[in-house]
Amino acid sequence: MSKSEETFVGAIDQGTSSTRFLIFNVKGQIVASHQVEYENHYAKAGWVEKSPIEILESVDTAIAGTCRRFNSLGYDTAQIKGVGITNQRETTVAFDSETGEPLTNAIIWNDVRTKELVHSLIDEAGSSTRFASICGLPITTYFSAVKMRWMLENVPEVKAAREKGTLRFGTIDTWLIYKLTGNYVTDVTNASRTMLMDIKTFKWSEECLEFFGVRDSELPEIRSSAEVYGNINDGRLKDVPIGGCLGDQQAAMVGQSCFDPGEAKNTYGTGCFMLFNTGDKPIFSKNGLLTTVAFQLGPKAQPKYALEGSIAVAGSAIQWLRDKIGLIVSPAEMGFLADTVEDNGGVYFVTAFSGLFAPYWRDDARGCIVGLTQYATRGHLARATLESVCYQSRAILEAMRKDSGTELRRLRVDGGLTNSDQTMQIQADILDIEVVRPEMRETTALGAALAAGLAVGVWQSEGELRQIAQSNVTAFWSHITEEKRTEMLKGWDKAVERSLDWA
Ligand code: G3P
Repeated sequence: MSKSEETFVGAIDQGTSSTRFLIFNVKGQIVASHQVEYENHYAKAGWVEKSPIEILESVDTAIAGTCRRFNSLGYDTAQIKGVGITNQRETTVAFDSETGEPLTNAIIWNDVRTKELVHSLIDEAGSSTRFASICGLPITTYFSAVKMRWMLENVPEVKAAREKGTLRFGTIDTWLIYKLTGNYVTDVTNASRTMLMDIKTFKWSEECLEFFGVRDSELPEIRSSAEVYGNINDGRLKDVPIGGCLGDQQAAMVGQSCFDPGEAKNTYGTGCFMLFNTGDKPIFSKNGLLTTVAFQLGPKAQPKYALEGSIAVAGSAIQWLRDKIGLIVSPAEMGFLADTVEDNGGVYFVTAFSGLFAPYWRDDARGCIVGLTQYATRGHLARATLESVCYQSRAILEAMRKDSGTELRRLRVDGGLTNSDQTMQIQADILDIEVVRPEMRETTALGAALAAGLAVGVWQSEGELRQIAQSNVTAFWSHITEEKRTEMLKGWDKAVERSLDWA
């Protein structure tokens, strides 16, 4: 096949702290990519926000950078047959349908400004899990409905647009698809993170809408994760269809080939998210996990469900050590530092900057470093930071065991932190199961590209996607004794108690 006959699929990966655009060939290999890093705004303690326009600009810049590289390799952007979108989930945008402009900054998923509101909503509902059997989620600061309600109560521009009937809400996928194609849609995976979708009917739930005070007309149409949502109306990718859309954690499920019940992956990004495929039926957690839609690969395809354990802080703790504390200059130093010590030296760091998510769900928990002695070094602190996400992953795995009744033997991992062999060894030591890291780590973007490629006919079947998503792997196994593990876990449990006691 000549160069000009080759076909490609693109993926926009809009994350919490960066945006990327990647182009994949039909074998699922990356041909070109470009990343734009950015900072969120922390206007007050607990507030995390970002201008939706800046998010959109970062997408344009990422697309331009990647397309330049792609062109310099001798390819034409007309060879890109479809684009998939994958995005930070729950982050909420409000915009005006008349002007197409945002009405306020996007409230990012880990923002906890709604803490008081959440307490009053729980009082009103009678329990934080009142709607869990409908939407799969507890009432917390994490999900979009609470952010929408806060905007309706606190942002005059949002109130005015409601009066005029021009208010539109959306998660980041909706905002991007709206600005790129003009169509107002979302997919089942992103909708399943709002607290407003009935996860059995895939429709907005009247009961949830009424409780949170959001109107059906203010929400996008819910579609599957693999179908054409519209063609890009401008720029370097003009006329290319957007054909795939998944929340980033669900996209990683597809990119990691977690297609069957019992398969699970853990993605270590800004936060860390473990998803366990439960097949055709939702399992409602009794142990602090979320019930979510894993993917629906086509309008007629059977939707698949997952149990999810979410950890609010993973890579963001490393960013904090770099930007606010000055312990390191670059994230890669973490591994070297952690390697200067044999163990954590009794130091534990509960990174509860935004409270503790699964399985604790305590928005009043706060970060704490305990067990310090004069013996402690920078290396111990680095190691305690890396261990923190691994202990939290263990707590989630325990909850998954209980909820699913299945013994997980193998965890697929991806995301920035998995580049560190030390961290993955620590993870295997703490979990005591096989931790499997693929050679191809861009699994989130790959998942979105696979969905888009399926929708536009670059690939024909889920079976073909499975083959492409298979990758060479490195496996990590525990190297420590059961006695050592028990001692480490005891220390962690005590540290978590301190973090929970803080309030
Ligand atoms: O639920 C939030 C999640 O989607 C954010 O992912 O990779 O940006 O930390 P990430």
